[in-house]
Amino acid sequence: MDHFEYRGRTLFCEDVPVPEIAEQYGTPVYVYSTATLLRHLKEIQTAFAAASPIICYSIKANGNVSIARLMGEHGAGYDVTSGGEFYKALRAGPKGAKIVFAGVGKTDAEIEYALTNDVYLFDVESEEELHAIGAVARRMGRKAAVALRVNPDLPPKTHVKTDTSVKGVKFGLDIETVLEVAAKVVDHPGLTVAGLHMHLGSPILKAEPYKLGCDKAVQLIAALRKQGHPLTVLNMGGGFGIHYRKQEALPAGAFADVILPAVKETGCQLVLEPGRFIVGNAGVLVSRVLFNKETGGKRYVIQDAAMNDLIRPTLYDSFHRIWPVTPSPDVPVRPDDYEVAIPGTIPQDVVGPVCESGDFLAKGRHLPPLKRGDLLAVFSAGAYAMSMASNYNARCRAAEVLVTGGTHRLIRRRETHADLVACEEDCLTGTAGAQ
Ligand code: LLP
Repeated sequence: MDHFEYRGRTLFCEDVPVPEIAEQYGTPVYVYSTATLLRHLKEIQTAFAAASPIICYSIKANGNVSIARLMGEHGAGYDVTSGGEFYKALRAGPKGAKIVFAGVGKTDAEIEYALTNDVYLFDVESEEELHAIGAVARRMGRKAAVALRVNPDLPPKTHVKTDTSVKGVKFGLDIETVLEVAAKVVDHPGLTVAGLHMHLGSPILKAEPYKLGCDKAVQLIAALRKQGHPLTVLNMGGGFGIHYRKQEALPAGAFADVILPAVKETGCQLVLEPGRFIVGNAGVLVSRVLFNKETGGKRYVIQDAAMNDLIRPTLYDSFHRIWPVTPSPDVPVRPDDYEVAIPGTIPQDVVGPVCESGDFLAKGRHLPPLKRGDLLAVFSAGAYAMSMASNYNARCRAAEVLVTGGTHRLIRRRETHADLVACEEDCLTGTAGAQ
């Protein structure tokens, strides 16, 4: 249940009619539901409650500070993947919120920044990185807590561009080499090998990969402890899938069923890094139809959201449900299945204004005939939409609005033309620093 529902023939986000938001803030606009965000966070917290987990909301899914703050206020820490995300986590978080720092390419400056700001755990992805963290920590007179990120070498489980646990990807340490790498840092003055980390990929629609990953983690943890490492944390990453098409995703409880036994067996503190599960279906992207066009036997609906606002369809062939915000009586209020021919609809490519053939949100989609000014809702756009948005074609990034019950507020203003040149303006006027 995602708190985006049609009342009569108008889409509401919680108790707010979506047309009201489009009217007030313009389009394209991302609209998020507080109740949905909290419901999904709660679902994970409840499913894993037996392990008293540390849930580190993955900022990369949606880095809006107001959303991240909401997560922190309800008990989450943060998973970050750059100094920039670390900064956002600090801006968002209540004091003491736990921050885990993953990513294959941390710079010395980022490592130092994280240590200065009491990072809970570095997820370490290579041997060189491990030693770099150790060196920075020593220089600072600190000991860095690290979790070794292992690539468990599992069968493919999601889109090739986001599968992070098949052999040969850039992520983590090869499972065969983890012990060898760890052996070299027993009693290292700058490092505590405190945990084991796995992030299998995203989105994952089955529990089985987590079961396979956990089995390998249990063995590795025992072996690392035998080496003398005080291993106390098992970080199973994120990746829990969501409903993009129909009801294809698993509840959090299904993942808990296979992860909790490993936590119990190892006695470790469980860390999770969910992003999409929490925020994916808590947001829609609302756009306005500009034009219709027929060419080459195809019908196009050109609307004002584009690949720069939601790159997932062209980057991963992702499917996002799309439907009018105020559907006419000739079509269902909301289809049960968006992938079949729906009475009253015609197949259309939903495209944006960007100058690329790859600029589409959907292809051959069954939609009713649309006219200029109609509003469309692109569903499941809470995760990896705004956070992957760009200014390509000098498009201003869209506004973000957070709905809570019957109220709504801007949580990111729409960018202006002045914003587009702000970083260049100083250079033109000669007032830029030497950055
Ligand atoms: N932890 C680590 C180390 C990760 O790399 C990721 C995602 C997460 C946690 C959060 O995964 P989630 O719970 O959100 O699935 N842009 C792609 C997804 C890339 C995921 C990158 N890593 C997409 O739009 O599908």
